[in-house]
Amino acid sequence: MSVREREHTELPIPNGWFAVAWSAGLAPGDVERIQCFEEELVLFRTRSGRLAMLDAYCAHLGAHLAEGGRVDGEAIRCPFHGWRWDASGECAGIPYCEQVPPRARLRAWDVVERNGLVFVWRHAEGKPPEWEVPALPELGHPDWTEPRHFELTVPVHMQEMHENNNDPVHFHFVHGNLIMPRSEIELREGGRMMHMVTRQRRDTPYGTFDTALETDSWGLGLAAVRISGIGSAGLLMFSASAPLDRRTTHMRWVFTVTRNLANTVGEDFVQGLQDGVRQDLRIWTHKVHRARPVLCAADETLAAFRSWARQFYSEPA
Ligand code: FES
Ligand SMILES: [Fe+2]
Repeated sequence: MSVREREHTELPIPNGWFAVAWSAGLAPGDVERIQCFEEELVLFRTRSGRLAMLDAYCAHLGAHLAEGGRVDGEAIRCPFHGWRWDASGECAGIPYCEQVPPRARLRAWDVVERNGLVFVWRHAEGKPPEWEVPALPELGHPDWTEPRHFELTVPVHMQEMHENNNDPVHFHFVHGNLIMPRSEIELREGGRMMHMVTRQRRDTPYGTFDTALETDSWGLGLAAVRISGIGSAGLLMFSASAPLDRRTTHMRWVFTVTRNLANTVGEDFVQGLQDGVRQDLRIWTHKVHRARPVLCAADETLAAFRSWARQFYSEPA
């Protein structure tokens, strides 16, 4: 056992809604192989435009439906013997047999399209969705710019990435922020959603502003970060992550700013966030997860994050 393995506590895959694709990337008839949650999955859009996700291995002889499967009306047709599977996972027909065996079904996943992304509900015990993916009012609003997208796969558990939002001190040491502002945390929606506000005076090339950085987190997969206080201007970063496995996370970000910022801070903001992720990457890639970290008295937002995060797991870490 290596030192790293000895020092590391592996976190399980959390429960919640996770983004597995960009909505616009899937036209009717498209089939996509999804490897996420340590599962093999097939995502497809039917001819009527409905999105569906099923376990990928055909119940018949086990062919992978995303490797040669074709959309056939409202179903996907297996490439091996042509059995058809509908969005609910029922067998919709066997081309060479009238009778469909009663056990002919595949697990169907709950899928929803929102904020330009495709979200899938994942629960270790198979429980149905317990909350809804929020729709962000800025996306598609006429006063806000066309959203910009950015994505990256990182070799770290998604909780470690999310923990960054609640780690004000790292902004000073990793990202070069000059001050370490204090944050206030409030739990909403029955404790599931975490709202955090950090107030900070910011010097920009366009003047000095008393800004508020507000982070809303819905489970470990979704976070909306908003900066306000710069006159009528606003910035929004929405991050949606998906656990590919216990050590790998795929991150997707959506950025938009109010149109009055498009030509000034807007581009710097997008660039700054991308640079920020690159700065975090070296830490994430080489760190271990401490299930019982030694925290100091001033680490209260980290402690609050850890206790909030526990509700999103079925198995203890
Ligand atoms: S393996 Fe899918 S139809 Fe035979
Ligand atoms: Fe960071």
